[in-house]
Amino acid sequence: MLFLTFMSSIFRDRLLAGKVAFITGGGSGIGQRMAERFATHGAKVMLAGRKQDKLDAAAAAIHATGGAAATAALDVRDYGAIEAALKRTRDVFGEIDILVCAAAGNFPAPVVGMSANGFKAVIDIDLNGTFNTCRAAYEHLKKPGASILSISANHATQPIAYQAHVCAGKAGVELLTKTLAIEWGPEGIRANCITPGPTDDTEGMRRLAPTEEARRRAIASVPLRRYGTKDELADLALFLCSDAATYITGAVYLCDGGSSLLRSSIGAG
Ligand code: COA
Repeated sequence: MLFLTFMSSIFRDRLLAGKVAFITGGGSGIGQRMAERFATHGAKVMLAGRKQDKLDAAAAAIHATGGAAATAALDVRDYGAIEAALKRTRDVFGEIDILVCAAAGNFPAPVVGMSANGFKAVIDIDLNGTFNTCRAAYEHLKKPGASILSISANHATQPIAYQAHVCAGKAGVELLTKTLAIEWGPEGIRANCITPGPTDDTEGMRRLAPTEEARRRAIASVPLRRYGTKDELADLALFLCSDAATYITGAVYLCDGGSSLLRSSIGAG
């Protein structure tokens, strides 16, 4: 019922009016679509990511629709850079209400084809990067109404061949989220996670299912028999970061077409 009320209000209200959001991975893919959705609903968004040209294009698209966006070029492996970008966000837009950790790395490789540094690179981006961003943002967020949203993947609970680094990293992201919900709940900070399945038009799926045959096999392992869309994830993110979800924390929301119910064929070679 709550969700239906929310969905009907989605089309008439600006659900994040006056809010400030800091979004890692905001220059492309799922993070970018979430930033666009948040801006449409009145949030001022800071887009953080590694590539300035992608960030500029994403910010320009938001400006073109009348939204407020700024950019911060950084690597989530660099704690000092995150701290500086958070301070600048506060200077430019005001106190931060919403943190989205969407920065992620991936390449398909069997464990024996993965050096220690290759494994570490993905753990450093996905898991340690999420920790770095949340930890650095704590001083900004500690107030009632603040929320953190991290992006996981089916990998967190489903072993997937050629994805050992992502499986380990995303499992950590989900438990980190739940731990933050316990530790920071008393401050008024909510922490939740979205777990996407195979999502169309993302760098991840371009790498994991690069051919038509691989795409067909991936779709066959989804009960809804299609890829999800970035819009579907952005709608869920909007709900979780809005005042329609003020009693939801420590939750891991699957948005995967049911794919976690079946054995994945992604990455199986
Ligand atoms: N197979 C095996 N190892 C690979 C690899 C691949 N396809 N791509 C990168 N690596 C290894 C590198 O060889 C290196 O290890 P080494 O020093 O032992 O040789 C290590 O990963 C780090 O690579 P580096 O080139 O220094 O880049 P990076 O630290 O910036 O991170 C990625 C590499 C691939 C993790 C990162 O660039 C990335 O994820 N890009 C794609 C973004 C993406 O897909 N986003 C969507 C996520 S779902």
